[in-house]
Amino acid sequence: MTGSQTAANPAGLVDGFGRVHRDLRISLTDKCSLRCTYCMPEAGVPWLAKQSLLTPDEIERLVRVAAGEGVETVRLTGGEPLISPNLIEIVRRVAAIEGPSGPIGVAMTTNGIRLPEFIPGLEEAGLNRLNISIDTLDPDRFRELTRRDRLIDVLAGIEAARRSTLRPLKLNAVVMRGVNDDEIVDLVEFAIEHDAEMRFIEHMPLDIGHTWDRGEMVPREEILAALRKRFRLEPLPDRGGAPAELFEIDGGPAKVGVIASVSAPFCGSCDRLRLTADGQLRNCLFAREELDLRTALRGGASDEAIRDIFRASVSSKRAGHGIDDPGFVQPERGMNAIGG
Ligand code: 5AD
Ligand code: SF4
Repeated sequence: MTGSQTAANPAGLVDGFGRVHRDLRISLTDKCSLRCTYCMPEAGVPWLAKQSLLTPDEIERLVRVAAGEGVETVRLTGGEPLISPNLIEIVRRVAAIEGPSGPIGVAMTTNGIRLPEFIPGLEEAGLNRLNISIDTLDPDRFRELTRRDRLIDVLAGIEAARRSTLRPLKLNAVVMRGVNDDEIVDLVEFAIEHDAEMRFIEHMPLDIGHTWDRGEMVPREEILAALRKRFRLEPLPDRGGAPAELFEIDGGPAKVGVIASVSAPFCGSCDRLRLTADGQLRNCLFAREELDLRTALRGGASDEAIRDIFRASVSSKRAGHGIDDPGFVQPERGMNAIGG
Protein backbone atom coordinates (compact mmCIF):
# COMPACT_ATOMS: atom_id res chain seq x y z
CA MET A 1 0.00 0.00 0.00
CA THR A 2 1.38 3.43 -0.88
CA GLY A 3 1.81 6.33 1.50
CA SER A 4 -0.80 8.38 -0.29
CA GLN A 5 -3.46 5.68 0.17
CA THR A 6 -2.63 5.52 3.87
CA ALA A 7 -2.87 9.28 4.18
CA ALA A 8 -6.22 9.27 2.37
CA ASN A 9 -7.66 7.22 5.20
CA PRO A 10 -7.13 9.37 8.29
CA ALA A 11 -10.52 8.86 9.98
CA GLY A 12 -10.03 5.17 10.70
CA LEU A 13 -11.10 2.18 8.67
CA VAL A 14 -13.27 3.80 5.99
CA ASP A 15 -13.96 1.86 2.81
CA GLY A 16 -14.62 3.06 -0.73
CA PHE A 17 -18.33 3.41 0.05
CA GLY A 18 -17.82 5.56 3.15
CA ARG A 19 -18.54 2.77 5.62
CA VAL A 20 -16.60 3.16 8.87
CA HIS A 21 -15.49 -0.11 10.45
CA ARG A 22 -15.86 -0.27 14.23
CA ASP A 23 -16.57 -3.93 14.95
CA LEU A 24 -14.08 -6.80 14.74
CA ARG A 25 -15.34 -10.39 14.98
CA ILE A 26 -12.73 -12.88 16.03
CA SER A 27 -13.17 -16.62 15.64
CA LEU A 28 -11.24 -18.42 18.38
CA THR A 29 -11.62 -21.93 17.01
CA ASP A 30 -13.34 -23.67 14.11
CA LYS A 31 -14.32 -26.58 16.35
CA CYS A 32 -17.70 -26.96 17.98
CA SER A 33 -19.57 -29.14 20.45
CA LEU A 34 -22.55 -29.30 18.03
CA ARG A 35 -22.88 -30.20 14.37
CA CYS A 36 -25.73 -27.99 13.17
CA THR A 37 -26.76 -29.33 9.80
CA TYR A 38 -26.78 -25.82 8.27
CA CYS A 39 -23.18 -25.33 9.35
CA MET A 40 -21.14 -28.53 9.36
CA PRO A 41 -21.29 -32.11 8.18
CA GLU A 42 -21.28 -34.86 10.83
CA ALA A 43 -17.71 -35.86 10.07
CA GLY A 44 -14.83 -35.16 7.75
CA VAL A 45 -14.34 -31.48 8.58
CA PRO A 46 -10.69 -30.55 7.91
CA TRP A 47 -9.94 -28.75 11.22
CA LEU A 48 -7.40 -25.97 11.35
CA ALA A 49 -3.97 -27.05 12.58
CA LYS A 50 -3.39 -26.13 16.22
CA GLN A 51 -0.19 -24.21 15.51
CA SER A 52 -2.04 -22.03 12.99
CA LEU A 53 -4.45 -20.72 15.66
CA LEU A 54 -3.66 -17.25 16.94
CA THR A 55 -2.31 -17.06 20.49
CA PRO A 56 -3.70 -14.66 23.11
CA ASP A 57 -0.59 -12.49 22.58
CA GLU A 58 -1.24 -12.30 18.86
CA ILE A 59 -4.94 -11.54 19.29
CA GLU A 60 -4.18 -8.84 21.83
CA ARG A 61 -1.70 -7.21 19.47
CA LEU A 62 -4.11 -7.23 16.53
CA VAL A 63 -6.93 -5.76 18.61
CA ARG A 64 -4.61 -3.05 19.92
CA VAL A 65 -3.74 -2.04 16.35
CA ALA A 66 -7.38 -2.25 15.27
CA ALA A 67 -8.43 -0.10 18.25
CA GLY A 68 -5.91 2.50 17.09
CA GLU A 69 -7.75 2.48 13.77
CA GLY A 70 -11.16 3.07 15.31
CA VAL A 71 -12.41 -0.40 16.24
CA GLU A 72 -14.63 -0.09 19.33
CA THR A 73 -16.15 -3.53 19.78
CA VAL A 74 -14.91 -7.08 19.51
CA ARG A 75 -17.14 -10.13 19.21
CA LEU A 76 -15.63 -13.51 20.00
CA THR A 77 -17.07 -16.35 17.96
CA GLY A 78 -16.20 -19.83 16.71
CA GLY A 79 -17.00 -22.52 15.89
CA GLU A 80 -17.71 -22.50 19.60
CA PRO A 81 -15.58 -20.01 21.57
CA LEU A 82 -16.15 -21.85 24.89
CA ILE A 83 -14.02 -24.66 23.46
CA SER A 84 -10.97 -22.41 23.24
CA PRO A 85 -8.67 -23.06 26.20
CA ASN A 86 -7.61 -19.39 26.04
CA LEU A 87 -11.06 -17.82 26.08
CA ILE A 88 -10.96 -16.19 29.53
CA GLU A 89 -7.45 -14.88 29.01
CA ILE A 90 -8.39 -13.42 25.63
CA VAL A 91 -11.48 -11.72 27.10
CA ARG A 92 -9.36 -10.27 29.90
CA ARG A 93 -6.72 -8.93 27.54
CA VAL A 94 -9.12 -7.53 24.93
CA ALA A 95 -11.37 -5.89 27.54
CA ALA A 96 -8.31 -4.05 28.93
CA ILE A 97 -7.51 -2.40 25.58
CA GLU A 98 -8.41 1.25 25.27
CA GLY A 99 -10.53 1.95 22.18
CA PRO A 100 -11.36 5.29 20.57
CA SER A 101 -14.11 5.98 23.10
CA GLY A 102 -13.17 3.99 26.20
CA PRO A 103 -12.36 0.33 26.76
CA ILE A 104 -13.12 -2.07 23.92
CA GLY A 105 -16.59 -3.62 24.32
CA VAL A 106 -16.41 -7.40 24.30
CA ALA A 107 -19.28 -9.62 23.20
CA MET A 108 -19.42 -13.34 22.52
CA THR A 109 -21.60 -15.59 20.36
CA THR A 110 -21.94 -19.08 21.82
CA ASN A 111 -24.05 -22.22 21.61
CA GLY A 112 -24.39 -22.02 25.40
CA ILE A 113 -23.01 -25.46 26.21
CA ARG A 114 -20.90 -25.30 29.41
CA LEU A 115 -21.80 -21.65 29.84
CA PRO A 116 -22.87 -22.08 33.51
CA GLU A 117 -19.33 -22.98 34.59
CA PHE A 118 -17.79 -20.18 32.49
CA ILE A 119 -20.04 -17.22 33.27
CA PRO A 120 -18.41 -16.09 36.55
CA GLY A 121 -14.96 -16.11 34.94
CA LEU A 122 -16.21 -14.34 31.83
CA GLU A 123 -17.91 -11.62 33.88
CA GLU A 124 -14.83 -11.14 35.98
CA ALA A 125 -12.59 -11.00 32.88
CA GLY A 126 -14.68 -8.15 31.47
CA LEU A 127 -17.10 -9.71 28.98
CA ASN A 128 -19.99 -7.31 28.35
CA ARG A 129 -22.57 -9.15 26.27
CA LEU A 130 -23.68 -12.58 25.10
CA ASN A 131 -25.55 -13.97 22.10
CA ILE A 132 -26.69 -17.56 22.50
CA SER A 133 -27.92 -19.68 19.59
CA ILE A 134 -31.13 -21.63 20.11
CA ASP A 135 -33.00 -22.80 17.04
CA THR A 136 -35.60 -25.03 18.68
CA LEU A 137 -37.08 -25.77 22.10
CA ASP A 138 -37.93 -29.34 21.20
CA PRO A 139 -35.35 -31.94 22.33
CA ASP A 140 -35.95 -34.28 19.37
CA ARG A 141 -35.69 -31.49 16.85
CA PHE A 142 -32.61 -30.18 18.59
CA ARG A 143 -30.97 -33.60 18.31
CA GLU A 144 -31.81 -33.80 14.61
CA LEU A 145 -30.71 -30.27 13.85
CA THR A 146 -27.45 -30.29 15.81
CA ARG A 147 -26.76 -34.07 15.73
CA ARG A 148 -26.21 -33.89 19.49
CA ASP A 149 -28.65 -34.54 22.36
CA ARG A 150 -27.77 -31.40 24.28
CA LEU A 151 -30.79 -29.10 24.41
CA ILE A 152 -30.75 -29.48 28.19
CA ASP A 153 -27.20 -28.07 28.34
CA VAL A 154 -28.10 -25.12 26.11
CA LEU A 155 -31.14 -24.36 28.29
CA ALA A 156 -28.91 -24.45 31.38
CA GLY A 157 -26.57 -22.01 29.63
CA ILE A 158 -29.40 -19.61 28.85
CA GLU A 159 -30.65 -19.82 32.43
CA ALA A 160 -27.15 -19.01 33.71
CA ALA A 161 -27.01 -16.06 31.32
CA ARG A 162 -30.38 -14.84 32.60
CA ARG A 163 -28.98 -14.74 36.12
CA SER A 164 -25.79 -12.99 34.99
CA THR A 165 -24.93 -9.33 34.57
CA LEU A 166 -24.39 -9.77 30.84
CA ARG A 167 -26.94 -7.51 29.14
CA PRO A 168 -28.52 -7.08 26.71
CA LEU A 169 -28.85 -10.84 26.35
CA LYS A 170 -29.68 -11.96 22.83
CA LEU A 171 -30.86 -15.32 21.54
CA ASN A 172 -30.38 -16.25 17.86
CA ALA A 173 -32.37 -18.68 15.74
CA VAL A 174 -31.83 -19.52 12.09
CA VAL A 175 -35.35 -20.06 10.72
CA MET A 176 -35.74 -23.10 8.48
CA ARG A 177 -38.81 -24.21 6.59
CA GLY A 178 -40.38 -27.36 7.96
CA VAL A 179 -37.77 -27.50 10.73
CA ASN A 180 -38.48 -24.73 13.25
CA ASP A 181 -40.68 -22.18 11.43
CA ASP A 182 -43.61 -23.21 13.65
CA GLU A 183 -41.66 -22.21 16.79
CA ILE A 184 -41.25 -18.50 16.06
CA VAL A 185 -43.81 -17.38 18.65
CA ASP A 186 -42.67 -19.96 21.24
CA LEU A 187 -39.07 -18.81 20.92
CA VAL A 188 -40.07 -15.17 21.49
CA GLU A 189 -42.04 -16.12 24.60
CA PHE A 190 -39.12 -18.20 25.84
CA ALA A 191 -36.75 -15.26 25.27
CA ILE A 192 -39.02 -12.85 27.15
CA GLU A 193 -39.13 -15.27 30.11
CA HIS A 194 -35.33 -15.20 30.13
CA ASP A 195 -35.01 -11.41 29.93
CA ALA A 196 -33.57 -11.81 26.44
CA GLU A 197 -34.19 -10.43 22.98
CA MET A 198 -35.03 -13.06 20.35
CA ARG A 199 -33.50 -12.56 16.92
CA PHE A 200 -34.48 -14.56 13.86
CA ILE A 201 -31.86 -15.00 11.15
CA GLU A 202 -32.49 -15.80 7.50
CA HIS A 203 -30.59 -18.89 6.47
CA MET A 204 -27.51 -17.92 4.47
CA PRO A 205 -25.43 -19.96 1.99
CA LEU A 206 -22.48 -20.58 4.31
CA ASP A 207 -22.45 -24.26 5.22
CA ILE A 208 -19.49 -26.50 4.50
CA GLY A 209 -21.71 -29.01 2.74
CA HIS A 210 -23.15 -26.37 0.34
CA THR A 211 -26.70 -27.53 1.02
CA TRP A 212 -28.36 -24.09 0.97
CA ASP A 213 -31.51 -23.79 -1.11
CA ARG A 214 -33.15 -20.39 -1.49
CA GLY A 215 -36.61 -21.95 -1.58
CA GLU A 216 -36.00 -23.48 1.86
CA MET A 217 -35.10 -20.14 3.36
CA VAL A 218 -37.84 -18.49 5.42
CA PRO A 219 -37.70 -14.82 4.40
CA ARG A 220 -38.16 -11.77 6.65
CA GLU A 221 -41.77 -11.24 5.46
CA GLU A 222 -42.80 -14.72 6.59
CA ILE A 223 -41.05 -14.35 9.91
CA LEU A 224 -42.86 -11.05 10.52
CA ALA A 225 -46.19 -12.52 9.44
CA ALA A 226 -45.76 -15.36 11.94
CA LEU A 227 -44.91 -12.88 14.70
CA ARG A 228 -47.84 -10.60 13.86
CA LYS A 229 -50.30 -13.46 14.32
CA ARG A 230 -49.54 -13.34 18.00
CA PHE A 231 -47.87 -9.97 18.79
CA ARG A 232 -48.32 -6.31 17.96
CA LEU A 233 -45.01 -5.19 16.41
CA GLU A 234 -43.82 -1.60 16.33
CA PRO A 235 -40.65 -0.95 14.27
CA LEU A 236 -37.88 0.69 16.30
CA PRO A 237 -35.68 3.29 14.62
CA ASP A 238 -31.92 3.81 14.95
CA ARG A 239 -30.60 0.53 13.68
CA GLY A 240 -27.17 2.04 12.92
CA GLY A 241 -24.79 -0.59 11.59
CA ALA A 242 -26.63 -3.39 13.37
CA PRO A 243 -27.78 -6.36 11.30
CA ALA A 244 -31.04 -6.79 13.18
CA GLU A 245 -34.14 -4.82 12.36
CA LEU A 246 -35.81 -4.35 15.75
CA PHE A 247 -39.48 -4.36 16.69
CA GLU A 248 -41.06 -3.55 20.01
CA ILE A 249 -43.47 -6.28 21.12
CA ASP A 250 -46.94 -5.37 22.39
CA GLY A 251 -45.87 -1.86 23.41
CA GLY A 252 -42.57 -2.97 24.97
CA PRO A 253 -40.23 -3.19 26.68
CA ALA A 254 -39.72 -6.62 25.02
CA LYS A 255 -38.14 -6.55 21.57
CA VAL A 256 -37.62 -8.95 18.71
CA GLY A 257 -35.08 -8.69 15.89
CA VAL A 258 -35.06 -9.97 12.32
CA ILE A 259 -31.75 -10.40 10.51
CA ALA A 260 -32.70 -10.46 6.83
CA SER A 261 -29.24 -10.94 5.38
CA VAL A 262 -30.58 -12.47 2.19
CA SER A 263 -33.92 -10.82 1.38
CA ALA A 264 -33.09 -7.32 2.73
CA PRO A 265 -29.30 -7.08 2.94
CA PHE A 266 -27.84 -4.45 5.28
CA CYS A 267 -24.44 -4.33 3.58
CA GLY A 268 -24.82 -0.58 3.05
CA SER A 269 -24.29 0.08 6.76
CA CYS A 270 -21.90 -2.77 7.52
CA ASP A 271 -19.21 -1.83 10.05
CA ARG A 272 -17.71 -5.31 10.53
CA LEU A 273 -14.40 -7.01 9.85
CA ARG A 274 -13.68 -10.66 10.60
CA LEU A 275 -10.60 -12.44 11.78
CA THR A 276 -10.48 -16.21 11.37
CA ALA A 277 -9.01 -18.43 14.07
CA ASP A 278 -5.93 -18.92 11.90
CA GLY A 279 -5.35 -15.21 11.57
CA GLN A 280 -6.83 -14.35 8.19
CA LEU A 281 -8.59 -11.01 7.87
CA ARG A 282 -11.88 -10.97 5.94
CA ASN A 283 -13.89 -7.87 5.09
CA CYS A 284 -17.17 -9.80 4.66
CA LEU A 285 -18.78 -13.09 5.70
CA PHE A 286 -18.94 -13.82 1.98
CA ALA A 287 -15.49 -12.52 1.05
CA ARG A 288 -13.53 -14.59 -1.44
CA GLU A 289 -10.22 -13.06 -0.40
CA GLU A 290 -8.43 -12.95 2.94
CA LEU A 291 -5.34 -11.06 4.08
CA ASP A 292 -2.82 -13.05 6.06
CA LEU A 293 -2.24 -11.36 9.41
CA ARG A 294 -0.80 -14.51 10.99
CA THR A 295 2.16 -14.68 8.64
CA ALA A 296 2.70 -10.94 9.08
CA LEU A 297 2.64 -11.27 12.90
CA ARG A 298 4.93 -14.28 12.95
CA GLY A 299 7.29 -12.65 10.44
CA GLY A 300 7.90 -9.74 12.79
CA ALA A 301 5.67 -7.13 11.12
CA SER A 302 5.59 -3.67 12.69
CA ASP A 303 2.37 -2.18 14.05
CA GLU A 304 2.32 0.09 10.99
CA ALA A 305 2.55 -2.92 8.65
CA ILE A 306 -0.31 -4.61 10.50
CA ARG A 307 -2.33 -1.42 10.40
CA ASP A 308 -1.80 -1.27 6.64
CA ILE A 309 -3.18 -4.80 6.27
CA PHE A 310 -6.35 -3.70 8.13
CA ARG A 311 -6.58 -0.65 5.87
CA ALA A 312 -5.99 -2.69 2.71
CA SER A 313 -8.73 -5.15 3.69
CA VAL A 314 -11.20 -2.33 4.27
CA SER A 315 -10.20 -0.54 1.05
CA SER A 316 -10.97 -3.62 -1.02
CA LYS A 317 -14.38 -4.27 0.55
CA ARG A 318 -17.15 -4.72 -1.97
CA ALA A 319 -20.49 -2.90 -1.82
CA GLY A 320 -22.39 -6.05 -0.87
CA HIS A 321 -22.32 -9.80 -0.43
CA GLY A 322 -23.70 -10.45 -3.92
CA ILE A 323 -25.80 -13.51 -2.96
CA ASP A 324 -28.22 -12.52 -5.72
CA ASP A 325 -25.57 -11.90 -8.38
CA PRO A 326 -25.58 -14.49 -11.17
CA GLY A 327 -21.88 -15.14 -10.53
CA PHE A 328 -22.23 -15.61 -6.74
CA VAL A 329 -19.79 -18.17 -5.41
CA GLN A 330 -20.09 -19.33 -1.80
CA PRO A 331 -16.95 -18.74 0.29
CA GLU A 332 -14.67 -21.74 0.64
CA ARG A 333 -14.67 -21.61 4.42
CA GLY A 334 -17.82 -22.58 6.28
CA MET A 335 -19.45 -20.40 8.95
CA ASN A 336 -17.63 -22.40 11.64
CA ALA A 337 -14.29 -21.19 10.32
CA ILE A 338 -15.35 -17.62 9.56
CA GLY A 339 -17.19 -16.73 12.74
CA GLY A 340 -20.76 -15.44 13.03
N1 5AD B 1 -27.11 -18.86 8.01
C1 5AD B 1 -27.50 -18.03 9.01
N2 5AD B 1 -26.99 -18.08 10.25
C2 5AD B 1 -26.07 -19.00 10.49
N3 5AD B 1 -25.41 -19.29 11.62
C3 5AD B 1 -24.56 -20.31 11.37
N4 5AD B 1 -24.65 -20.69 10.08
C4 5AD B 1 -25.61 -19.89 9.52
C5 5AD B 1 -26.17 -19.80 8.22
N5 5AD B 1 -25.79 -20.61 7.22
C6 5AD B 1 -25.67 -18.61 12.89
C7 5AD B 1 -25.63 -19.51 14.09
C8 5AD B 1 -25.29 -18.56 15.19
C9 5AD B 1 -24.53 -17.46 14.50
C10 5AD B 1 -23.08 -17.47 14.84
O1 5AD B 1 -24.67 -17.66 13.11
O2 5AD B 1 -26.85 -20.13 14.34
O3 5AD B 1 -26.43 -18.02 15.79
FE1 SF4 C 1 -21.46 -25.08 16.19
FE2 SF4 C 1 -22.55 -22.71 15.66
FE3 SF4 C 1 -21.86 -24.33 13.62
FE4 SF4 C 1 -23.93 -25.00 15.24
S1 SF4 C 1 -23.79 -23.18 13.88
S2 SF4 C 1 -22.24 -26.38 14.56
S3 SF4 C 1 -23.31 -24.23 17.20
S4 SF4 C 1 -20.47 -23.38 15.06
